[in-house]
Amino acid sequence: MHPDGERILFTGEQIQARVAGLGAEISSDYKDKELLVIGILKGAIIFLSDLVRSITVPLYYDFMAVSSYGSSTESSGVVRILKDLNQSIENCHVLIVEDIVDTGLTLNYLVENLKSRGPASLKVCTLLDKPSRRKVPVKIDYNGFTVPDEFLVGYGLDYNGRYRNFPYIMVLSRRVYEGGN
Ligand code: IMP
Repeated sequence: MHPDGERILFTGEQIQARVAGLGAEISSDYKDKELLVIGILKGAIIFLSDLVRSITVPLYYDFMAVSSYGSSTESSGVVRILKDLNQSIENCHVLIVEDIVDTGLTLNYLVENLKSRGPASLKVCTLLDKPSRRKVPVKIDYNGFTVPDEFLVGYGLDYNGRYRNFPYIMVLSRRVYEGGN
């Protein structure tokens, strides 16, 4: 494990097995339908790229980038769209793919925003759910793992842009973001 980590929460093998399970569940739920998967940049791209390869129904994918004002470890709730979709989602079966739902503020904003665009259906898939920090209720249709209130990095999750490329997810040592040793 990387020295900035306190412990590994999920190994690459555990993640791959769970992602394959989610892919199978989604494939069976959307049987005979076509799916538009919307990945939320940048955190969700690693998860999305593995997930879509285990989904067997026909699909398209697109990306949105949003920024939530605040520090690197605290979300403020004010969400701004930095990159919007390239296409209309009207009458599409939309699946939002997120890396982690923490306060729920980002996802709540995204769901309301996308709902107003007239999709045929709208569901949410997140790799990680940190329910202890929720500030607004959000409905999660597919969840990879429920996690404790700790700051996690790896498999797309970052701290100041780092650690996203790790195949595993680790708890970041507090000393890294609290500045001391
Ligand atoms: P929310 O709006 O508070 O639910 O925040 C969701 C976003 O905050 C995620 O998409 C991540 O980018 C970021 N985030 C929340 N918790 C963590 C974490 O433990 N590690 C890395 N990023 C996190």
